[in-house]
Amino acid sequence: MWTGWWLWPLVAVCTADQFRDNAVRLMQSTPVIDGHNDLPWQLLKNFNNQLQDPRANLTSLNSTHTNIPKLKAGFVGAQFWSAYTPCDTQNKDSVKRTLEQIDVIQRMCQLYPETFLCVTDSAGIQQAFQEGKVASLVGVEGGHSIDSSLGVLRALYHLGMRYLTLTHSCNTPWADNWLVDTGEDEAQSQGLSSFGQSVVKEMNRLGVIIDLAHVSVATMEAALQLSKAPVIFSHSSAYSLCHHRRNVPDHVLQLVKQTGSLVMVNFYNDYVSCKAEANLSQVADHLDYIKKVAGAGAVGFGGDYDGVSRLPSGLEDVSKYPDLVAELLRRQWTEEEVRGALAENLLRVFKAVEQASDHKQAPGEEPIPLGQLEASCRTKYGYSGTPSLHLQPGALLASLVTLLLSLCLL
Ligand SMILES: *[C@@H]1O[C@H](CO)[C@@H](O)[C@H](O)[C@H]1NC(C)=O
Ligand SMILES: *[C@@H]1O[C@H](CO)[C@@H](O)[C@H](O)[C@H]1NC(C)=O
Ligand SMILES: *[C@@H]1O[C@H](CO)[C@@H](O)[C@H](O)[C@H]1NC(C)=O
Ligand SMILES: [Zn+2]
Repeated sequence: MWTGWWLWPLVAVCTADQFRDNAVRLMQSTPVIDGHNDLPWQLLKNFNNQLQDPRANLTSLNSTHTNIPKLKAGFVGAQFWSAYTPCDTQNKDSVKRTLEQIDVIQRMCQLYPETFLCVTDSAGIQQAFQEGKVASLVGVEGGHSIDSSLGVLRALYHLGMRYLTLTHSCNTPWADNWLVDTGEDEAQSQGLSSFGQSVVKEMNRLGVIIDLAHVSVATMEAALQLSKAPVIFSHSSAYSLCHHRRNVPDHVLQLVKQTGSLVMVNFYNDYVSCKAEANLSQVADHLDYIKKVAGAGAVGFGGDYDGVSRLPSGLEDVSKYPDLVAELLRRQWTEEEVRGALAENLLRVFKAVEQASDHKQAPGEEPIPLGQLEASCRTKYGYSGTPSLHLQPGALLASLVTLLLSLCLL
């Protein structure tokens, strides 16, 4: 060989920089749209949603994976912020708590108008790209947030919700979660109940993206089959590479491919390597794998920043996306494939969801009278306890009278 051995390390160093430079160049025109970030949860936990607390200043906040300088360094151009309320609020104050998380997202946009632009459609994302701002959208994480009400679903849509994750890590009365597949929870709906099907149809009608992160495999299959529009996994990785039930199995990746849907890869170590430790290269393996099985059009990013306790070395916070993109370029992804994973794939899905929506069609009404809706799972009277504890004295009296009357009629 004409080159000396000493030249190769130099070549390696230079090309490494070149991939990073190309990543940055690409991201200047096509920044990343991330599917899931839990900063609003951190704001609640650490500051009780008091955004004016000087410690919560998003410019200097440094206890989180996300802050304004890191978003800028990471070329984040759009973020679905998670409006999340834990499963233990189900049948209690989940609706109120969800509204408060939507409120804190909207206040972020108001307080930092130079950085965030709250938008509710695909055109809004593109506008934010042009203005160099972070398009901010609301993703509601967990079907318990609608408290089994199509009315609440519609109202959340009007407040800006543009995806709903059908479950968090608990069943709703109408959809099963991933813990059913580990045996920790019992299947209740075998996927989607008939009310669950009405929820999916109403989401299609409204133009809310169906998110299948956190749901059981049967729920994935049912929703992929029923939905008129493509769906997303806002923060899930590939089951074949790490056998965790939060990840997407191969036969579902086939359905993703057939429906033009999207898997936004989660960076949480436990879903990437199934171990406490992971690295950037292993996340790239998931992106490669989903591309191989479902096509480059099915790949996206859903880092789960500020929702997880352990992140891969090389992807410690939201400033690191360009390093991951450089790794994809190193693995010979084409520019078009990279732009797809960064933003174009999500824009394609979102536009298809918008096109499939039909606001002229009459709203779906509650298919079952509220009082009868899976009464065993749902307390109509709000706060905790079994429904019987909350029977009003009047209702109790009425039941007794009815009982006596029916006895008389016998
Ligand atoms: C955050 O801090 C910066 C400077 O450190 C200041 O200019 C800005 O007004 C603060 N923003 C809020 C909302 O407190
Ligand atoms: C984080 O910010 C606080 C004040 O906002 C500052 O006192 C502290 O030194 C910072 N820590 C790091 C690691 O930058
Ligand atoms: C990432 O982790 C894997 C598995 O531990 C290891 O084989 C690989 O060398 C690591 N890659 C880098 C770049 O550190
Ligand atoms: Zn989650």
